Amino acid sequence: MDYTEFREAGHRMVDFIADYLQQVQEKPLFPDVEPAFLHALFDEPLPSGPRPLHEIQTLLEEKLLPYCTHVNHRGYMGLITPSPNPAGILGDLLASALNQNLGAYSIGPSAVAMERRVIRWLNDLIGYDAHAGGNLSSGGMTANFIGLKLARDHVSGDRAQHEGLQGRYAVYVSEERHVSLDKSVDAVGIGRDNLRVLPADEHYRLRIEALEAALEADRRQGIRPLCIIGLAGTTNLGAVDDLKALAAIAAREQCWLHVDAAYGGGMLLSQQHPGVLEGLHLADSVTIDPHKWFYAPLDAGAILVKDHDRLTASFGMQHAYLTDQSGQKNERYQFYVHGFEQSRRFRSLKVWMSFQHYGAAQIGEWVDRNVALAAHLHQLAVQDPEFESATEPVMSAVCIRYTGADLDEEQRAQLHHEVAARIEREGQFWFASTAMKGKTWFRINPVNIYTDTDTIIALFETLQRYCREWVMR
Ligand SMILES: Cc1ncc(COP(=O)(O)O)c(C=O)c1O
Repeated sequence: MDYTEFREAGHRMVDFIADYLQQVQEKPLFPDVEPAFLHALFDEPLPSGPRPLHEIQTLLEEKLLPYCTHVNHRGYMGLITPSPNPAGILGDLLASALNQNLGAYSIGPSAVAMERRVIRWLNDLIGYDAHAGGNLSSGGMTANFIGLKLARDHVSGDRAQHEGLQGRYAVYVSEERHVSLDKSVDAVGIGRDNLRVLPADEHYRLRIEALEAALEADRRQGIRPLCIIGLAGTTNLGAVDDLKALAAIAAREQCWLHVDAAYGGGMLLSQQHPGVLEGLHLADSVTIDPHKWFYAPLDAGAILVKDHDRLTASFGMQHAYLTDQSGQKNERYQFYVHGFEQSRRFRSLKVWMSFQHYGAAQIGEWVDRNVALAAHLHQLAVQDPEFESATEPVMSAVCIRYTGADLDEEQRAQLHHEVAARIEREGQFWFASTAMKGKTWFRINPVNIYTDTDTIIALFETLQRYCREWVMR
């Protein structure tokens, strides 16, 4: 390896990244390009010979950069992928260079200690005591999967790991759940037919009486509750279920309580809205994604578990080729014994660096700013008789829709999709559309350090104009 070339190319790359971050606001947020064009652009044979790094940088500038979705752009308010904080970006660079493999202590002693500390910080934020544990994961999907596996194993008396799930069980969750939970009940062998998808109330929180009715109906058929899932920050609206009520019901039913706070966990850093996640510490396991509202670069999810021993009971297999003879007294913490993944990236480094550089207070301020932006957009929609907001936002996610003109629901859905597509093409803003309670909505979520009030006002004015133009077209 030519380290002179590496050094030069590395400096150039870091300069390039700094320029990119400073100039990204001027770029079109989303590339106006056909997928077929991009497919053709990368339709190239496997390179058989070498090429200097500076040439590759030029290629990246030509082929990759012009066609990215710029989540660092202040107009990005879409699917929950934040503008990554710059300290975290450097953390990931170093993590790749060190290539510590956190599955086993022997491939990263200090990295294992750092990762355990980051998990402890997250457990402290939740309010878990010293018995808690956890794993960083690729994201909320994997964290929810692990949460459901822990539930399954616990409720089966740790037999399911050997026998598979025996008997009839069900899992309960609100209709506002993320799809990762459907995939998880499938993956751990409970089956999607046994996921009871229950109605949410007018604030998009699980109806407790619907949960009680579903439990009763299952009881009559001899179906036992395996897990109740609470949502602490729904994907559409940031709605938070009544976690205390869910904890009381789970305790009564002797089943597991898993809470999906993949997105909403960021509220634990808020200084202006304490208590939004009240009761979170009562859950047996919690999903929180630092790569969502802690502004860490992808990927960094987390499953946090009230009783660390449940992780070991669920995953604790030790094969001869992995057994570390030096750790006879368990002083060498082996993540592979206490978690699902074997090889795992050094995800905690970027999270640790983010907290070290900015401090929890600054990250909490970003969260509070995002919440204020959502509240502002909600107000703008409420004040316009031709717009409706689904509910007052508790976090950064708002769903609004155009109600002007005499349109049926199919036409209104078309309006929303076409206006969103027009805005995407123009490259100033990006947000998603969604459906809730039979209606189509613009789903707008500024999990972004750079979005400001002017951006929100400009977005709303654009929506007002384009919705009216669609009707007049
Ligand atoms: C509430 C919730 N849970 C889970 C997930 C899945 O997380 P990931 O995309 O990190 O796998 C998401 C993603 O947006 C989410 O909003």
